[in-house]
Amino acid sequence: MQPVVVAIDGPAGAGKSTIAKALARDLGIAYLDTGAMYRGVTFAVLRKGLAATDVDAVGRIAQTVLFDQTTETLHVDNVDATAAIRTPEVDAAVSHIAANSVVRDEMRLRQRQWIADHHGGVVEGRDIGSVVFPDATLKVYLVATPLVRAERRVAQHGGDVVEIARAIAERDERDSTRADSPLRQTPDAVVVDTSNRSVDQIVADIRALLTLRLKSS
Ligand code: DC
Repeated sequence: MQPVVVAIDGPAGAGKSTIAKALARDLGIAYLDTGAMYRGVTFAVLRKGLAATDVDAVGRIAQTVLFDQTTETLHVDNVDATAAIRTPEVDAAVSHIAANSVVRDEMRLRQRQWIADHHGGVVEGRDIGSVVFPDATLKVYLVATPLVRAERRVAQHGGDVVEIARAIAERDERDSTRADSPLRQTPDAVVVDTSNRSVDQIVADIRALLTLRLKSS
């Protein structure tokens, strides 16, 4: 039997991590945060004092960087980068790094290998259903209103809601307009609005969709 792969895509603050983690726990399968991988490359680049726009040097870092990733933590070249990959500096640089095709090729290879090693899982990102796993068992595209998305980030990391909403909009624009695998909703993805519903309700809905999908396959 093919391993079960659930792709969870969507813009920043749509609730991907919360939903994907809860769903993976509920299903008893592995969880992979691919955004953390792009953040990990960004951390390695900034730590070496390189510019995020130095395409060749950034590509080389991506091909050699060592990740040790769990559901809650990320070590980059044996350094615990769990907190450091969520700083405003990384937030500001990561979408430049994620637009680099050498970086994307390498991360996709690693993501596919990870799924093979773990015999499936819930994978969250921007291009999971569109490019990384086009044959995923189920594709979910999460959305939420801009205000809800900004308020979630403020609740997690503090800051000014107007400033954060502006930074999120900027990052979405870069993620959606880049040439290589931009953020987009595929026609076969189920769109779920997380603005006004509980995590438990959303996870139950996705689980029901997955059960239907598995029955009909
Ligand atoms: O989900 P996140 O905010 O942690 O993602 C960080 C950045 O990485 C974001 O700007 C989009 C990018 N990203 C991507 O291009 N492709 C993915 N599969 C996951 C994240």
